[in-house]
Amino acid sequence: MHLPDLDIAKKRDKKENNYIELKENYKPVLKGKKYFLRTYGCQMNVHDSEALRNYLEALGLENTDLVSNADVIVLNTCAIRENAKDKVTGFLGKCHYLKKKNPNLKIVFAGCMSEQPNVINEIKSKHSYIDIVIGTHNLYDLPKLLLENFNKQTIEVYSESDEVIEGMHYNRDSQYTAWVNIMYGCDKFCTYCIVPYTRGKERSRKLEKIVEEVKRLKENGYKEVTLLGQNVNAYGHDIGETFSHLLECVAKTNIERIRFVTSHPWNFTDEMINIIAKYKNIMPYIHLPIQSGSNEILKRMNRRYTREEYFELFTKMKEKIPNVSITTDIIVGFPNESEEDFQDTLDMVKKCQFDGAYTFIYSPREGTPAAKMTDNTKMAVKEERLHRLNELVNYYSNQSNQKLLGKVVEVLILGNSEKDNSKVYGYTDTMKLVNVSGPKEIIGQIVPVLITDAKSFSLDGDYLKEKVKN
Ligand code: SAH
Ligand code: SF4
Ligand code: F3S
Repeated sequence: MHLPDLDIAKKRDKKENNYIELKENYKPVLKGKKYFLRTYGCQMNVHDSEALRNYLEALGLENTDLVSNADVIVLNTCAIRENAKDKVTGFLGKCHYLKKKNPNLKIVFAGCMSEQPNVINEIKSKHSYIDIVIGTHNLYDLPKLLLENFNKQTIEVYSESDEVIEGMHYNRDSQYTAWVNIMYGCDKFCTYCIVPYTRGKERSRKLEKIVEEVKRLKENGYKEVTLLGQNVNAYGHDIGETFSHLLECVAKTNIERIRFVTSHPWNFTDEMINIIAKYKNIMPYIHLPIQSGSNEILKRMNRRYTREEYFELFTKMKEKIPNVSITTDIIVGFPNESEEDFQDTLDMVKKCQFDGAYTFIYSPREGTPAAKMTDNTKMAVKEERLHRLNELVNYYSNQSNQKLLGKVVEVLILGNSEKDNSKVYGYTDTMKLVNVSGPKEIIGQIVPVLITDAKSFSLDGDYLKEKVKN
């Protein structure tokens, strides 16, 4: 039994990273059994689930989309806001019911919620039917724990985070686009955010390992990689590397499309902008969370930039990177946000005219500094602000989509469209979703598409056999 501890999780010592090469070889001893895996949260979790899936299948388990058919249920959870937690709690009700019907069912609780001591206390007191709890740093413990035949709840969660694991295998969701971790953790400690506690300290993978992985993916037919980190521009500071150097090395593998998430506006260097502008296979798309347009709030969020500095960086990107699309994240209702602060946020949205934005109402996270700040703003006021913000944000994303009407754009086609099965779907270089009229054979290819309709959140288009000049 190993329990998480926030004091350990927030420590940032100068200890060197501990690089570990996994050499795993599992036998399919659970053949004939089925697993159901549900993922909550961000891309890190989506990618971690690809590793979990690999472990489950290496043990012989088969995927089922029907939870009532499963012998093993795995929840890969997210702790970023209370509503993420609520979704998990809701699903746990169903798991409990299934466990009562089938005592042999194994329930595994993984992901960022496992790293929160208050959640662990709840699991111990209210959810004793959960069999295994693992944290974000020890996904590799899953097979061992599943095979052990214990009859009481097992919690193996570590808050120490100096390991960088190599040799992980992934059972990837797509055959064409792949997530590639470049670093783990986050040292920024924005005052509202739980991630530095759930994901631990910033630690970079070695550059050659990342490049090797991209080369292998390319050989295996992948068209696109997305380099993953909570704060990709901090890549390498712990190992004498830089993100711009990494980007250039990845670009030189000649994989067709390279993306990266997430960028922090602090310390986004000119060198990085130049490299993005220089290489055609680095996509002109940057997700650059602003969080707030008020300098006072930004300071209390510990974001390390002012609205003026953000706008300067934003303008530089727009000038130097041809056709770049920039999206953002915004939090409304940070403790004691005034109407004036909120107006500053609306003002920044008007100035930047973002191609898209994810907007959230601030949610206090236990253990973070902001959770202790006084907050006299009523929830109804916050909700109303979110509504006003969304109207503005949607207006600009619609405008940005309208600009593509009648144009021919390159789209990487990923699969059948969910909305209309006669169509396929994919993404432009600028990360816009397009539903395309075209044959299924173009799935997995980058093809020219004529944009015929533009909405706030997606585009419609026709596949063009012959490329037409704009
Ligand atoms: N590492 C990324 C984002 C991580 S979380 C970055 O720094 O940009 C994704 C988004 O969730 C954040 O950008 C922020 O807008 C939002 N978020 C994080 N903590 C939150 C909280 N306590 N309440 C509401 N939104 C939050
Ligand atoms: Fe959270 Fe800030 Fe780190 Fe992003 S940079 S993960 S918002 S602490
Ligand atoms: Fe959620 Fe953890 Fe990602 S808290 S947003 S799954 S890093």
